[in-house]
Amino acid sequence: MTRLGSDAALVSAAARARGAAYAPYSRFRVGAAVRTASGAVYTGANIENASYGLSHCAERVAIHKAVSEGHRRLEVIAVVADGTSPAMPCGACRQVMAEFGVRRVIVATPTGRRRVRTLRQLLPEPFLADRLPPK
Ligand code: THU
Repeated sequence: MTRLGSDAALVSAAARARGAAYAPYSRFRVGAAVRTASGAVYTGANIENASYGLSHCAERVAIHKAVSEGHRRLEVIAVVADGTSPAMPCGACRQVMAEFGVRRVIVATPTGRRRVRTLRQLLPEPFLADRLPPK
């Protein structure tokens, strides 16, 4: 865990994390860095498996690292993926972002092309715990 205040620093952390991607099947490397409400930063990279369906996206690796260290409120995530234009997060990762309150998503290429979206733009009608029956 580290502490990085700016968007640029978060994107740099995601770019560094991409270096650890284990993506021998797709050869599509992704790194992510998520900042918690308390300012902590956790990184992740995609991790594939010969049994393809077991692969993990970089975003969920970073988010679940934060959550498994006790964080429940996340604010912003940066994602750096291979390619010449920024790749948007998959639907499953958007749902996991919604669970932990991510509000902003920064997507970037390794050469620094960047786009910023709100999670509300990417997932306008999330399924959230308030729809579940009371305990
Ligand atoms: N991948 C991510 O890490 N994040 C995404 O949002 C989309 C896809 C990974 C999963 C897999 O290892 C590779 O990219 C190709 O789908």
